Amino acid sequence: MQKLLVTGGAGFIGSNFVRYVLDYTNNHVTVLDKLTYAGNLASLEGLPEGRFAFVMADIADAMVVDRLVAECDVVVHYAAESHNDNSLHDPRPFLDTNIVGTYTLIEAARKHSKRFHHISTDEVYGDLELDDPARFTEQTPYNPSSPYSSTKAGSDLLVRAWVRSFGLQATISNCSNNYGPYQHVEKFIPRQITNVIDGIRPKLYGKGENVRDWIHANDHSSAVLTIIEKGIIGETYLIGADGERNNRDVVELILEHMGQPREAYDHVVDRPGHDLRYAIDSTKLRDELGWEPQFSNFNAGIEDTIAWYRDHENWWRPQKAQTEAKYTEQGQ
Ligand code: NAD
Ligand code: TYD
Repeated sequence: MQKLLVTGGAGFIGSNFVRYVLDYTNNHVTVLDKLTYAGNLASLEGLPEGRFAFVMADIADAMVVDRLVAECDVVVHYAAESHNDNSLHDPRPFLDTNIVGTYTLIEAARKHSKRFHHISTDEVYGDLELDDPARFTEQTPYNPSSPYSSTKAGSDLLVRAWVRSFGLQATISNCSNNYGPYQHVEKFIPRQITNVIDGIRPKLYGKGENVRDWIHANDHSSAVLTIIEKGIIGETYLIGADGERNNRDVVELILEHMGQPREAYDHVVDRPGHDLRYAIDSTKLRDELGWEPQFSNFNAGIEDTIAWYRDHENWWRPQKAQTEAKYTEQGQ
């Protein structure tokens, strides 16, 4: 039995990982989360008492972090400001959490000689042309576009430097776009599903030709657990499930599954600096650590996700009006 400290465990992917660990291992989990607008305790309801604890605090709070890191065996670091659109309107919290917060955690992990796994994104690599046969690999140079992706890139580089200069026992993973239950309604897929439920037409940025490489959050969780168990210290692993789709196709699929005409969406103003295409080559993770995705049927995954949002209106309704008001202000 190991004691995991999971930062950002009340967010979308962190809470999925917490449920995954409690379901498939006998490990104990402590969640450290500030409960920003994106954190939601309702995402952690019903977890087994005795194997789960929650601490509400900021990852940049060195005193709390030092105590919690000292008490755990492994730190799994999900906490972040995670939304590109927010980063374009107010970058400061991205620097505070993604850079200073990560710095605070790795200092504590170094001091207490704790295993550290850093969760990151494929967005640190910038974007690819639509017709480029290439995909991102662990060797792709960093070239982030937005305040979000540049602060994630900065946090990755801090972890790499702490490994090299201080012998931090760390691994890093960079994953593609996740979807599934418990994702905040500001993000693309849940925004469109809940819009259709509310009788609002889905909103496509620009022409809708941008491509994202979708992976179910459960597959992200199984990959992270594999890296914690079998990953080589100092290594980076890319996580992806060969799920490239353009945004227009995703919106049309959602509309079709929800009984609407496929063309019942609107084009809105594009995101400044909008990355064209992301695509992950996860050969290293598959060949070296033996990981395989289990939820590769995107059609079925979208159907399940739509059903989840239909069945869990109590979970997302409190966030919806405020989120849409913000988008309306931005013309999106
Ligand atoms: P999210 O926004 O849903 O959740 C972030 C969580 O971190 C929230 O619970 C929030 O309260 C918490 N948090 C934020 N600032 C904090 C602070 N200063 N101290 C403590 N807690 C804080 O994000 P997500 O989509 O679940 O992403 C989780 C991680 O995965 C992030 O590191 C993100 O960069 C990475 N990632 C996300 C995706 C994706 O598709 N969403 C893809 C690849 C990687
Ligand atoms: P998002 O979920 O914000 O993830 P990311 O920016 O990390 O890829 O957006 C996914 C894609 O969907 C991205 O190309 C932007 C686009 N998008 C829309 O077209 N409409 C929307 O309402 C939103 C939120 C995003």
